[in-house]
Amino acid sequence: MSHAHGLASPVTSRPGTALKGRLRVPGDKSISHRSMIFGLLSIGETRVEGLLEGDDVLRTAEACRALGATITREGPGRWRIVGVGIGGLTEPSDALDFGNAGTGSRLMMGVAGSHPITTTFDGDASLRKRPMRRILDPLVKMGVTVVSEAEGGRVPLTLRGPRETIPITYETPAASAQIKSAILLAGLNSPGLTTVIEREATRDHTERMLRHFGAKVEVKPHGEDGRAITLQGQPELRGSTVVVPTDPSSAAFPLVAALITPGSDIILEGVMMNPLRTGLITTLLEMGASIERLNERDEGGETVADLRVRSSRLTGVTVPAARAPAMIDEYPILAVAASFAEGVTRMQGLHELRVKESDRLAAVAAGLAEAGVQYEIEGDDLIVHGSNGKVRGGGKPVATHLDHRIAMAFLVMGLATQEPMTVDDGAMIATSFPTFIPLMRELGATIQD
Ligand code: S3P
Repeated sequence: MSHAHGLASPVTSRPGTALKGRLRVPGDKSISHRSMIFGLLSIGETRVEGLLEGDDVLRTAEACRALGATITREGPGRWRIVGVGIGGLTEPSDALDFGNAGTGSRLMMGVAGSHPITTTFDGDASLRKRPMRRILDPLVKMGVTVVSEAEGGRVPLTLRGPRETIPITYETPAASAQIKSAILLAGLNSPGLTTVIEREATRDHTERMLRHFGAKVEVKPHGEDGRAITLQGQPELRGSTVVVPTDPSSAAFPLVAALITPGSDIILEGVMMNPLRTGLITTLLEMGASIERLNERDEGGETVADLRVRSSRLTGVTVPAARAPAMIDEYPILAVAASFAEGVTRMQGLHELRVKESDRLAAVAAGLAEAGVQYEIEGDDLIVHGSNGKVRGGGKPVATHLDHRIAMAFLVMGLATQEPMTVDDGAMIATSFPTFIPLMRELGATIQD
C-alpha cells in the first residue's frame, strides 16, 4: 500500500461471509486538523487524544511545526502541541506541502495568510486541481496579498498577510465549512468582528473549537437553513485538551458494508452524532436500514452513540439537496447502498461533489458502470437504479483518481457483489482511514492488497 515506488497499488474485495463484531473507527478528520491548528494558535500546551494519524492530518501537523509550534507524539493518537499564539507565527523556510488535503491547505491559508509572513502552499496532483479562489477571494478582502498562484487560483500559491487583517462580513458562495473556517481563522488576527454568513448550515467544528479555546463566537439563525457566525477578533486562545470523537465519514464504510452484506450484524462504537454530519444515517433510515443508536453519551463536547447495524433490505428514496452539507463526503458510499436497494434513489444537488479530491460525481458514475449498475446524471443529480440486492460487480479496476473515498466505497461494494471488485489504487485510503483494510478484515471482510 505504499506509494514509495510511485506505482499504484490495486486492491480487490470479494463477496464472502456475513460481517460480525465490534469496531471503533479512527478519530474525526475535521476535528483532528483543527486540533493542530488551534494548538498552534494558542498560548501554552494543547493535549489531543484520539487524533486521526492519517496522512492529511500529519501534513497539517508538519505545517504547524513549520509555523513555529512544538509538536510531539506521546503515544497512539496522543499528541502535545505548544503553540505560539495568534500573531506569533514564524515564516516557514520552505513551501508547505499539504499532500492530498483540501481541509488542511484551505484552513491554513486563513491561518498563515492572515499573518505578516510569506507562505507558499502546495500539494499533490489532486490538490493542484482543486479551486482555491473561494478561499483567496475573502482573504484578499481581509487585506491578504496573493503573491503568486497557479492558473485559475490553484496551488502552488503564495500568500503574504498584513500586520492585522481587516474584519469583514462575508456570505459564502458555496455551502462549505472550509470557506467558513478559513475566514474565521483569519478573523482571529483582526481587530474587530468577523462575520460569516452561510445560506445552509455546514459542520460547526470550528465554531465549537473556537469557543473551547476561549474565543467569543456568536451564532444566529439566518434565513431558513442558514447561520450568521460572528467572531470577536484577537482573543487570547489558551492551550486546551481535545478528545477527538470518531469520524462518522469513516464509520459510513463499515456501516454500509454491514447493510448490504447478507446476515451481517455489527456494532460501531462511539460514532460522532453531530447533526451536521449525520445526513447519511437519516437517509439510510428512510431507506429502511436497521441502525440502532445505543448508549448515547457525550465525548469531547460531541454526542456519540454506538450503532448496531444489521443487514437490511433497502428501498430507493429522494435525497434533497438541502441535506447535502450534512453528508457531503458520504455520496460515494450512499451510491453503493443505493445500488443494492429496491427501486430508484435520486440524490439532488451534488455540484460540490465535482470539486472534491476527485470529480466524485464522474468517479462514482464510472465505478457504477464497471459494476453493471444503471444510473443517470441529470444536471447535478445522480440517479441510481437499485437492483434489489443483486449487483454484478466485476468489470475493470475502478479508477480512484487519488480519492480515498472512491477507493473505500467500491471496496465495500465488492463485499456484496456477485463478482469481486478491484480499485486501481488503495494508497490514498491512508489519508483518512489508514486502518480501513485491517479493521474490515476483523469483521470478516475479504480484501486483498
Ligand atoms: C471539511 C469540509 C467539507 C468536507 C471535507 C472536510 C472540513 O469540505 O468535504 O472533507 O473539515 O471543514 P467543503 O468545505 O469543501 O464542503
